[in-house]
Amino acid sequence: MGVMLLADRVLAALACQLGQPTGFAGRVVGRLLNRGNRSAVIAAVESADVADRDAIVADIGFGGGVGLEVLLRSVGPTGSVHGVEMSATMLAEAAHRFAHDISIGRLYLHEARMERLPFADASLDAIVSTNTIYFVEYLAAALREVVRVLGPTGRLVLGVGDPGQMSTMPFTRHGFRLRPIEEIIALLREAGFASVDDRRIGNGPGAFHVLVCNISGEHPSCRGT
Ligand SMILES: C[S@@+](CC[C@H](N)C(=O)[O-])C[C@H]1O[C@@H](n2cnc3c(N)ncnc32)[C@H](O)[C@@H]1O
Repeated sequence: MGVMLLADRVLAALACQLGQPTGFAGRVVGRLLNRGNRSAVIAAVESADVADRDAIVADIGFGGGVGLEVLLRSVGPTGSVHGVEMSATMLAEAAHRFAHDISIGRLYLHEARMERLPFADASLDAIVSTNTIYFVEYLAAALREVVRVLGPTGRLVLGVGDPGQMSTMPFTRHGFRLRPIEEIIALLREAGFASVDDRRIGNGPGAFHVLVCNISGEHPSCRGT
């Protein structure tokens, strides 16, 4: 096998693992994701504005679980966190790592996808999802599902790598959907978000995008201001 072909296969396998971490390699990828994405995930959770609130929040596509960890630290004492994943490996890792939070009813894990969420209408206050939508084929439908489960004052925080920056990473050629940010914002508005604020994390044109999306202008932190 040629060196180029081998390199291509390795990149394709890495892309697959990033899209759905599986088995031993998936566990390694989960840990690398936690390390590499920590600052972006922290910025996304901060933008969810759930600190010390008795909020019900979800992390969709939590991967290695750094978002769950930060959300659990962030929400108030009677708040709760839901982790949604389609990877059985990541679910098992989180079940082990967060066993205490699960046992006291602060964390619930769900095997599900963004396209079909296991929540009742208007049952969540906030949703965070970072580095997930590259793997969502029908984003418009998935975003409508997100709107369905958020309450009227709900907020979605979508963390997305800059498509220009992402396209320089060779593994993204293998199945990643690198949509222009303007296209994502248009889909968010069509899905029902009244406002979308594109906050950038990092410097330069390749800085990470934290899209802060409110269903209405009535987000709790905006009231009375
Ligand atoms: C690149 S990882 C990102 C993990 C973490 N959010 C982070 O930023 O480090 C993408 C994760 O999203 C999950 N995922 C992919 N498509 C999904 C979907 N349609 N619904 C829910 N999770 C999904 C994958 O299983 C994977 O764990």
